[in-house]
Formats: sequence, structure tokens, C-alpha cells
Amino acid sequence: MRCDSSPLLHLSHSFDLRPAGTADAARIAQWMSQPHIQRWWQQDWSVARWAQEIEQQAAGEHSVPCVVAVEAEDFGYVELYRVRLDRLAEHYAYDDHDWGVHVAIGDLTRVGRGLGRRLLRALADALLAADSACQRVVAEPDVTNSPSIRAFRAAGFEERGELRLPDKTAVLMVREASDV
Ligand SMILES: CC(C)(COP(=O)(O)OP(=O)(O)OC[C@H]1O[C@@H](n2cnc3c(N)ncnc32)[C@H](O)[C@@H]1OP(=O)(O)O)[C@@H](O)C(=O)NCCC(=O)NCCS
Repeated sequence: MRCDSSPLLHLSHSFDLRPAGTADAARIAQWMSQPHIQRWWQQDWSVARWAQEIEQQAAGEHSVPCVVAVEAEDFGYVELYRVRLDRLAEHYAYDDHDWGVHVAIGDLTRVGRGLGRRLLRALADALLAADSACQRVVAEPDVTNSPSIRAFRAAGFEERGELRLPDKTAVLMVREASDV
């Protein structure tokens, strides 16, 4: 990935990651309305609000909204974000080149089957490979989101303590380049 533009990440395991566009807003809104995602994301928004959100993110430097597919079937929503521009920067000793990931598997039939851990590993591998200055990929799942924490752990992320964020207590999960 170039530091100042849309991602061009090449993911392993037949994953395909592409920037989300406003044409994806309806599907993302539907994914986000499902209880297994709403509980953790709390972004059960209208299609119009999602279209606006995607446009705003795409126009800025903070984060990159993406749709992820496996074997050509879209199944989830991913946000890649620059920690230095994120609220997370106030909560740990970040490096300017740290990247963060938010993930949601929208296709309920694919949840809890090991797809998430493969995706998280592939995302971290691809970010570390694409941005040579990046030494760490991080995430901040809610401390009570056991499936997410377990999936991150299985993807090679390590727990680095709890963070008190405005809306939740999170676990800082870190994947180091040196662990690749
Ligand atoms: C988090 C998420 C991406 C993980 O992907 P996934 O494909 O479901 O995860 P995996 O199948 O790879 O791993 C799930 C792990 O949680 C465990 N698990 C599943 N349900 C669980 C539950 N209710 N309580 C505790 N552990 C649970 C599974 O056993 C597995 O762990 P194990 O193999 O160590 O036993 C996906 O579940 C998701 O999109 N959830 C909703 C949104 C979300 O929480 N996003 C993350 C915000 S940081």
C-alpha cells in the first residue's frame, strides 16, 4: 500500500480486498444491522449515512473502507486506519507508521468457521509487506468480544494490555513485523 492513497493490497488465501464505494452502501448497511455485528460496531446506520461515511473516509487520510471477498464472493467489511490519525493514538505509544484494522464478517453463514483468523493474518501480512515503514498492525476489540480476541490471537496478534476508550474497554492486539 502507498501511504497516501487507496490500498492495493495483495492478500493470500484467495482473499480480494477492494476499496468500498457508495454502490456498496446498501450491503454494508445490511451487514451492520445484524446483531452479531451491531453489538460490537454500533453502526446500524441507513444506506444514505453509510454512503456518506464511505465518501468521507475515501476523501480523507484517516482510514480506507474496503469490501473483502473470498473466491469472488463479497463477505465482509474492513477498515484500515492510520493509528496516528485515530483516537487510538491517545491510548498507547504508537509509531507513526502503525496501521489498525476493523473487521466485520457480514455473511453470517461464514462466521465462526476460521475465516476471520485467516483474513486477519492475511491483512496483517499484506500491510506489513506493502508498507516497509510499518512495523506493527494493531486492533482494539472490546475486552468482552471473545470470538474477536480469539481470532486475532490465532492470526498471530498478541495482547498488550487493556485500554479505556470512550465507549468501551478494549484489548490492544498487536502483530509485529518481526513475528512475520
Ligand atoms: C470477529 C470476527 C471477524 C472473527 O471471525 P470468525 O471467522 O468468526 O473467527 P474464527 O472462526 O477465526 O475464530 C472465532 C473464535 O472465537 C470462538 N468463539 C466463537 N463464539 C464464541 C463465543 N460466543 N464465546 C467465546 N468464543 C467464541 C471460536 O471458538 C474461535 O476460537 P477458537 O478457535 O480459539 O476456539 C467475526 O466473528 C465477526 O465479524 N464478528 C462480528 C464483528 C466483530 O466482532 N468484529 C471485530 C471487532 S474488533
